[in-house]
Amino acid sequence: MKKISRRHVIVTLSSTATFLCPAVLNAATTTDLSGWANIPTDIPMGLKKVLRLGNGPASIDISQLKPGDVSVIARPNDSADYAGTGQTQFVAAMRRDKDYLIVELTCPHKGKAIGLTGDPKVPFACTKRGRYHSSEFDSNGLGVAGKSSGDPMIVPEHKLTSSNGKVVLELA
Ligand code: FES
Repeated sequence: MKKISRRHVIVTLSSTATFLCPAVLNAATTTDLSGWANIPTDIPMGLKKVLRLGNGPASIDISQLKPGDVSVIARPNDSADYAGTGQTQFVAAMRRDKDYLIVELTCPHKGKAIGLTGDPKVPFACTKRGRYHSSEFDSNGLGVAGKSSGDPMIVPEHKLTSSNGKVVLELA
């Protein structure tokens, strides 16, 4: 199992506030679709930093996340499921008030990348644009708008463990 040093993770997670880019976030949550122009669809938008790992199982300390924080982990994956995201599995770990939401940032509609909006009620949106296409997801990972409306986000195979105030996300 790949181990990430605590220092590395803390350094990465402590910068979660800089993950969000207001200019892009506004575009992601507006109905004026002109703002979507030239936004790539194969990487999550609204991010400035991603924890990039090699392939294979990983164990990540997410104890530093505060309510509303989201951290994104990226791992290469050859599966056709990730053809729309540059053969990369993006996983978001979001701290909610009492628990964590762990979801993949691959759209259940056509596999494009889902980005972070910065809106706690609708924290995720698909970067694919088109008048009847863009999907938005609530803090339970449920599609609430666009083509994925009513569909859940994909949950990766994972385990969360908590001990002595330390929360560890294990990805298979
Ligand atoms: S791929 Fe996400 S809404 Fe179509």
